[in-house]
Amino acid sequence: MDRRKFLNSMSAATAATIAGAATLSEKADALEDAMSDAVELEGKRRSTPRMMCHLENGRPPRDPNDERPFLMHDEPNLPKMPAKPTLVDFYKLRFSPASHVLQSAKLARDAGEDEKVVMACLLHDIWVGKLGSTDHGYWCAQMIAPYVSEEIAWAIEKHQALRFFADKNYGYEYPEAYISYFGKDYRPEPYLVHANEQAKKHKWYDTSRKITVNDLYSFEKGVQVEIDDFTDIIGRNFKQPKDGLGFDESKTAHMWRTFIWPNNYL
Ligand SMILES: [Fe+2]
Ligand SMILES: [Fe+2]
Repeated sequence: MDRRKFLNSMSAATAATIAGAATLSEKADALEDAMSDAVELEGKRRSTPRMMCHLENGRPPRDPNDERPFLMHDEPNLPKMPAKPTLVDFYKLRFSPASHVLQSAKLARDAGEDEKVVMACLLHDIWVGKLGSTDHGYWCAQMIAPYVSEEIAWAIEKHQALRFFADKNYGYEYPEAYISYFGKDYRPEPYLVHANEQAKKHKWYDTSRKITVNDLYSFEKGVQVEIDDFTDIIGRNFKQPKDGLGFDESKTAHMWRTFIWPNNYL
């Protein structure tokens, strides 16, 4: 820790403790102790903003007099969410990078796909990030299930498996990117093989497969897509709760709250 910075940011109580030491050597010891406490505290309470968190204005300076070891509720590194957040608020203030799902939805819309496909593309990867990308399709589907049609939630869950398997009827190949990501020898786990086989026989297979067809594996440079371009489609396909996402007592409200306060200790 930088000694000068530490002295500038030290709390009044710490300064009084150091000043109260009788000898120069005791003062030096008190300073060392205070610095090591501060390093420990910093390590404990440093909140690592998760990938999905949008950090537009950088990190605000920490209040040197705030010695609480853990963060709870509003995370100072993140923009404050409205009291009754809408889906659009999450895109603007929490989901990050949102460009992948926005570009996928644009691709589907430009291809003339049905609104349910566009909506599914818009939502298909919103869970991906440091809350855990493992089984992201299942997490995503569960989180949005109370607010969308059963078909959209089903399609999002299944895209997780379908993206590993080619389907010539749709011109869908195993993604090149996965070879570099996971290696040539990677084989999907049996539960994914099974999920793919089951999905292929399902009446909503087309919707799920189209998520993978429009799933962008590399971003188009210079293409800026805004969530505001999709407010009509969201309005018709997403039941926005009047109390706000996270506060409507749905079965998945806690998942939305985790995005609102991703770094709460408890
Ligand atoms: Fe995905
Ligand atoms: Fe995706």
